[in-house]
Amino acid sequence: MSRSFSRSLDLFARAARVIPGGIYGHTHPAATLPMASPYYATRGEGCRYWDADGNGYIDYLCAYGPMILGYHHPEVEAAAERQRALGDCFNHPTPLAVDLAERLVALVDFAAWAVFGKNGSDMTTWALQVAREHTGRKKILRADGAYHGSHAWCTPGHGGLIEEDYAHIHGFTWNDLEDFERRLKEHRGQVAGVIVTPFHHPAFGDSVLPAPGFLQGVEAACRREGVVLILDDVRGGFRLHRGGSHRLFGFEPDLICFSKALGNGYPISAALGRQLLQRAAGRVFLTGSFWNNAVPMAAALACLDVFAREDVPAKVAATGRLLRAGMERLSAKHGVPVRYTGPDAMPFMSFADETNFFRSQTFCKETIRRGAFFHPHHNWFLSAAHTPADIEETLEIADAAFEVVADEFRRPGKAV
Ligand SMILES: Cc1ncc(COP(=O)(O)O)c(C=O)c1O
Repeated sequence: MSRSFSRSLDLFARAARVIPGGIYGHTHPAATLPMASPYYATRGEGCRYWDADGNGYIDYLCAYGPMILGYHHPEVEAAAERQRALGDCFNHPTPLAVDLAERLVALVDFAAWAVFGKNGSDMTTWALQVAREHTGRKKILRADGAYHGSHAWCTPGHGGLIEEDYAHIHGFTWNDLEDFERRLKEHRGQVAGVIVTPFHHPAFGDSVLPAPGFLQGVEAACRREGVVLILDDVRGGFRLHRGGSHRLFGFEPDLICFSKALGNGYPISAALGRQLLQRAAGRVFLTGSFWNNAVPMAAALACLDVFAREDVPAKVAATGRLLRAGMERLSAKHGVPVRYTGPDAMPFMSFADETNFFRSQTFCKETIRRGAFFHPHHNWFLSAAHTPADIEETLEIADAAFEVVADEFRRPGKAV
């Protein structure tokens, strides 16, 4: 049952010589479980992937979200392959850009237009610029602890930053409408935009769904003050609702940013907005060498075909409910209380008696050893490729992992 990560470790040693940090950003081993988790992947199929040492996993991270239909989805791959044979990168956009914009505009109720990029950060940053261009104001409000990408105004990282990068970015407390109104008042007449995620999903923290009336209150305040409301649906988009996560939570933004699940792993992001913002959007320069590439657009169109045919969010939520029920049952069986938060399609589990994640790390190490990949500090993702049988297999693994946690932390001197 013990797994070797020797090839991962060898690769990492080589990488450390030629790549600063060896692996960068959120996929750095230090962010997960150094030595107890794979560092490199080689292939995937459905809800499973294999690491560089040949170990296979039922995957509950889905590449941090993009794999909504599962790895190597035949229909998406066939569409991408067809376009690859024709070409990907040209002097011009391809007709697929127009098709994709039309399809997305038809899908998202408030949207009149769409633009495309590669990453979520491209779109969240551009959305702020559109809000500034439209209002002629500088300031942006965002929830404390929310992740909106890796650009200088929002990166949670360190290094190379100057105070001016976030000089006009101000925080408010998630789910605290009074605090939000206070911040808006403090900067009255200067706030261009408010950016929110559909639910709060901080790393190293439990997920928090919007309190009744919170997002509606934010929306009303934005309308009152002429502030552009931006929904960062990069993480939740197409997993929670195929028309945008605002539909699940009953509010309406002015701009919405998608990425991750839009292309089932192909690099594409999109921003869609109201008619009212179309002129400003046309004035804010938006480009990148590969932003018009046709293969990811073909993949995205194939995903939209699947989303039109199958209720993917309902399917993923149903599978997610099985996982939640199973985890809660096992937690009770082993007498190890957990907090299981977030939507069923993108849950997070932490151990109720701790804040240091030691139990979470032990739990995830034990599931990884047995072939189910869970992240100890980041919300999980389910996909339409997970079946009830996969969940059953996972829960057998989780049963053993809970047992280890219960045993480890019951020993004298080990309780933390
Ligand atoms: C809510 C949210 N916004 C923005 C981003 C940034 O997207 P990307 O990493 O594609 O730049 C992410 C990425 O995880 C995200 O979860």
